[in-house]
Amino acid sequence: MTEAILLVGGKGTRLRPMTVHTPKPMVPAAGVPFLTHQLARARAAGVEHIVLATSYLAEVFEPYFGDGSSLGLHLEYVTEVDPLGTGGAIRNVASRLRSGPDEPVLIFNGDILTGLDIKALVDTHETSGADVSLHLTRVEDPRAFGLVPTDPNGRVTAFLEKPQTPEEIVTDQINAGAYVFRRSVIDTIPAGRPVSVERETFPGLLADGAHLQGMVDSTYWLDLGTPQAFVRGSADLVLGRAPSPAVPGRRGERLVLDGAEVAADAKLTGGTVVGAGAVVGAGARIEGSTVLAGAVVEAGAVVTDSLIGERARIGARTVLHGAVVGDGAEVGADNELRDGVRIWCDARIPDCAVRFSSDQ
Ligand code: GTP
Repeated sequence: MTEAILLVGGKGTRLRPMTVHTPKPMVPAAGVPFLTHQLARARAAGVEHIVLATSYLAEVFEPYFGDGSSLGLHLEYVTEVDPLGTGGAIRNVASRLRSGPDEPVLIFNGDILTGLDIKALVDTHETSGADVSLHLTRVEDPRAFGLVPTDPNGRVTAFLEKPQTPEEIVTDQINAGAYVFRRSVIDTIPAGRPVSVERETFPGLLADGAHLQGMVDSTYWLDLGTPQAFVRGSADLVLGRAPSPAVPGRRGERLVLDGAEVAADAKLTGGTVVGAGAVVGAGARIEGSTVLAGAVVEAGAVVTDSLIGERARIGARTVLHGAVVGDGAEVGADNELRDGVRIWCDARIPDCAVRFSSDQ
């Protein structure tokens, strides 16, 4: 049986939820809590047992996912008292694992949307005989990432901190946040204190001569660290660019969930999702955006690459571009909100209050 650990936690997560009321892993992406896609993809790859390692708000996961049987999984939950970091979180759930010492255990970062071929990563691990195998992805601009160079056989040669100078960019390969650990390696991580896999476990293993194998898979890969990335990921799930068996409906330009009301002449494109009970008025145009349950987009509004929280209201003719509107917020008519603006949950913006365009 293949089993996996899903890391969902960390210090930042509580401070940076997508909206104030809903923790990020539970914000719907393509109509279902984001975590559902990761669980369903793991199941499709043959994983049967998943331990959710979390450091916060565990009580929101269990009521929704339960024992995992609706997804064909056996799910367990472990909550850290204080965040233990990625390595500490993995070590903290070791007692829940059922694999033998030489068997592979998959580990997934909980904030990555990817088309990774999970079975291929396990195969790479088994054929290479590695202690740990890592999914690596190539990025155009590696400056924001730790780099993972490999030798011609794919064996990892170093873990490098974010490059500061052009000379330090020795590869475009980065850690993509999915690993296979030989079970016995997990037991070597120190217990009961914070440990970072990238800064401590992996460099330590390399220094001890362990075999770390990289598998470059340049499939769809997105770090959902920002609301903008989250909206992009949701749209890509709907469009079918990001593969997931959990999208509730056909792939295409739009996903309109049961109970939503969309005016006949409203235009929904670019992987837009309209949640249950949401209303889209006449002539509204929504592109590449997520409209959560119960939100209202009034007539003539133009919404692009934006997240509209639950029960939020966007007034007539208002333009949103790259905006995040918190749950229950109201943006009046004839406003223009752009590029990275975030409206607090339940805030009120009157009609004709904000614009970016010039007087002409
Ligand atoms: P460290 O490697 O521990 O320093 O964390 P990081 O900041 O490099 O990790 P990052 O923020 O990239 O998070 C990677 C994944 O691990 C995400 O899905 C996080 O939710 C999760 N994660 C990070 N820290 C913790 C933690 O303390 N506990 C748990 N359970 N998960 C964590």
